[in-house]
Amino acid sequence: MVFLRCLVCRSMRAAISIKNISKSYGALQALDDVSLSIEPGEFFGLLGPNGAGKTTLISILAGLVKADRGHASIMGADVQSAFREARRMLGVVPQELVFDPFFTVRETLQFQSGYFGIRNNDAWVDEIIAHLDLTSKADSNMRSLSGGMKRRVLVAQALVHRPPVIILDEPTAGVDVELRQSLWQFISRLNQDGHTIVLTTHYLEEAEALCQRIAMLKQGKIVALDTTENLLSQYGSIKKDGEGKVDLEDVFVNIMSGGAL
Ligand SMILES: Nc1ncnc2c1ncn2[C@@H]1O[C@H](COP(=O)(O)OP(=O)(O)O)[C@@H](O)[C@H]1O
Ligand SMILES: [Mg+2]
Repeated sequence: MVFLRCLVCRSMRAAISIKNISKSYGALQALDDVSLSIEPGEFFGLLGPNGAGKTTLISILAGLVKADRGHASIMGADVQSAFREARRMLGVVPQELVFDPFFTVRETLQFQSGYFGIRNNDAWVDEIIAHLDLTSKADSNMRSLSGGMKRRVLVAQALVHRPPVIILDEPTAGVDVELRQSLWQFISRLNQDGHTIVLTTHYLEEAEALCQRIAMLKQGKIVALDTTENLLSQYGSIKKDGEGKVDLEDVFVNIMSGGAL
């Protein structure tokens, strides 16, 4: 009976639960009563123009910013009251490239392991380095790496503690096409292996191809939340010139301009 109940609570536990989250910076309301639940194993897109509140929401989930109101949890662990547990469940690839320039790639990843209290992580670190095609740069200092290579290290850093939930905040901003494609392949494989993925990106074509469900944020509010398929079919009549199929960019532009169905 106890076992059964555990199975039930496990199956009901969201990978990410966001309830009535609000956050202001002075007079600016960055997030306004945002609620959202993301299930384990989902590949979820968080889209919105610059300043919509995406990074603020991610920072709240990572415990870096405190919400004014509301609750959020990762795999059932509250991001405030159970910070360490929630943080262990989460890997974040941040929007900004921030590194200690004097460490090598391998050292950067080993320090990150230490931050999570993991020892003897060398085999896993080597595996991540290999999967992200960083082997030839493993002993190079971070400052000598190109922007694209630094991005790869950011992704590697998010994975050292094997988190079940991974959030990527514009991981391909300013990255060349080849790296973008190899990153997407890698991230898709993580999702196939059972990881929950949340992605913010300006590349709507890629969001359309990768994300099963999408939330659109505008001025701190969720203005659309549905499966990619439903979003595309609900807005099926918006392409007025009648040329080609409606794509996510058409839907995005329509929703952001306040267009009705
Ligand atoms: N630390 C901060 N102090 C003041 N304003 C901030 C801070 N962080 C974000 N903002 C503001 O909050 C809003 C949302 O920003 P952000 O979450 O970075 O949006 P996005 O990631 O969608 O571009 C923006 O107007 C931004 O200028
Ligand atoms: Mg951002």
